[in-house]
Amino acid sequence: MSGIYIHIPFCKTKCYYCDFHTSASYKYKDDYINALINEVDLQKDFISDKNVETIYFGGGTPSTVDVEDIEKIILKVKQSFSVINKPEITLEANPDDLSEQYLDKLINIGVNRLSIGIQSFENEYLKLMNRRHDSDTAINAVKNAQEIGFDNISVDLIYGLPKSSLDFLKQESEKILSLDIQHISAYHLTIEDKTVFKKYEKTGKIREITDTNSLEQYLYLTKFFEKNGFEHYEISNFAKKGCISKHNSSYWINSQYLGLGSSAHSYNRKVRKWNIANVKKYIEGVNFKNIDQEKEILSKKDMFNDYLLTGLRTSNGVDLNAIEHDLGKEYKEKLLYNVNKQIDTNTIILKENKLFLSRIGWFTSDTMILDLFLDDEI
Ligand SMILES: C[S@@+](CC[C@H](N)C(=O)[O-])C[C@H]1O[C@@H](n2cnc3c(N)ncnc32)[C@H](O)[C@@H]1O
Ligand code: SF4
Repeated sequence: MSGIYIHIPFCKTKCYYCDFHTSASYKYKDDYINALINEVDLQKDFISDKNVETIYFGGGTPSTVDVEDIEKIILKVKQSFSVINKPEITLEANPDDLSEQYLDKLINIGVNRLSIGIQSFENEYLKLMNRRHDSDTAINAVKNAQEIGFDNISVDLIYGLPKSSLDFLKQESEKILSLDIQHISAYHLTIEDKTVFKKYEKTGKIREITDTNSLEQYLYLTKFFEKNGFEHYEISNFAKKGCISKHNSSYWINSQYLGLGSSAHSYNRKVRKWNIANVKKYIEGVNFKNIDQEKEILSKKDMFNDYLLTGLRTSNGVDLNAIEHDLGKEYKEKLLYNVNKQIDTNTIILKENKLFLSRIGWFTSDTMILDLFLDDEI
């Protein structure tokens, strides 16, 4: 089974923490939608597995696009691949785009999963982040979606915000829980280069919270959501039973995926490639049937690093048998040798021939996974 990712790069305003590839100019919107549809024909043979189980509209802000355009793209995907009956179709949305009329149209074209960017319930923080909505708008968006019939809703929360305390996070967590949703993506704030937040940091307007506070918030969140019926199945993701994001999981279980749109990545187990992150150049590329792309042919070392990156991020862990089977015994032995230090310090656990991050390990996962990466082929 494979997945289709569609990147919608447009945002009405730019959030001050965000360094994603986005564009505030809707001048090219119609040309872009046409390009997405035409790109399907150019790229569809990149994935050999034509059985599509999931379609994911990510961004940018897909909810700023007319439902009629979303529908055209879904129809094109359905015509071009063997899409299963009732595929998981996710749309990322900003709360203030979700009018009853918009939601009603979305559910009628088969979108069955919403990922709503709430980020915080505190209006002061929403303002600081330059979000377009306030807390009540976000809560009402979720309620409206539920009333209209959406029963698979995810919410994005940013924690570790400047000056945030554990007590504040406790309030945020209770508010999320009261929404009665199926999935939560909770991201620790990263102050990225070239963002307004970076400027704020340089001028002293905001400051990162301490490592101790970060860890305390992370441990609180994971325990709180687990206690309240959510499975912590990936570093930043929590789901009620049966509500794990099938699309995101496909990245972690080595399924093939095709990414359409500017900056979108595609993967077919042998090659990974990504489109140029420029809306105008992307459209021109599609029109000339020659999209500007970068490509990486995956060596055994790359596949090994991918196994670590994807496996350790999730509750599935890294299967040592799979590494031995797909890459050779020497890769498994090298990993077992290198991981000894982490096993001794209890950040990685070895169980039934699989490696898993411990709860503390998940918090320091980025550096730890990088430490285990191979720089050279064996
Ligand atoms: C593409 S956006 C989701 C859809 C929509 N554009 C929105 O903002 O509601 C992806 C998510 O990544 C998270 N995110 C982006 N930049 C981040 C940062 N610097 N630190 C933490 N989380 C971040 C936010 O939670 C955001 O909702
Ligand atoms: S967080 Fe979402 S809405 Fe804000 S700029 Fe990034 S992609 Fe756009």
